[in-house]
Amino acid sequence: MKKIAFGCDHVGFILKEEILTHLAQRGIEVLDKGTWSGERTDYPRYASAVAQAVVAGEADGGILICGTGVGISITANKFAGIRAVVCSEPYSAQLSRQHNDTNVLAFGSRVVGLELAKMIVDAWLDAKFEGGRHLARVEAIKAIEMRDD
Ligand code: RB5
Repeated sequence: MKKIAFGCDHVGFILKEEILTHLAQRGIEVLDKGTWSGERTDYPRYASAVAQAVVAGEADGGILICGTGVGISITANKFAGIRAVVCSEPYSAQLSRQHNDTNVLAFGSRVVGLELAKMIVDAWLDAKFEGGRHLARVEAIKAIEMRDD
């Protein structure tokens, strides 16, 4: 992934700034969707902005941070075409790309420290969807998403 849409709430703001530095060191372009300070705000707004950017193809993927990563990933997953995962360790981040073709990564600033967060980000960015037997499963997820019942 060369370009990442990034979003966080006020709880994730400090960690976001640190992860942005890490992404810059990796040469990854960032579309910064906020928030831009520690002032109290609400995570659905930033999850929506990132999800819409990814669905529109403005970014190759998205990264989201809130206190736990839970609320912000739940919100992102409400958008058709988004497969968001919340991770607190690198193994699930890697497998979520390889098997589930996730296009949004979330984690919690109250859950993981900076070094672990960087490992999670790197594992997710470096892994590629394997296709094969996993493709039909991801297609089945998309079919559920498009159902009309
Ligand atoms: C904000 O207090 C907190 O609820 C939010 O950052 C996140 O953890 C929600 O899932």
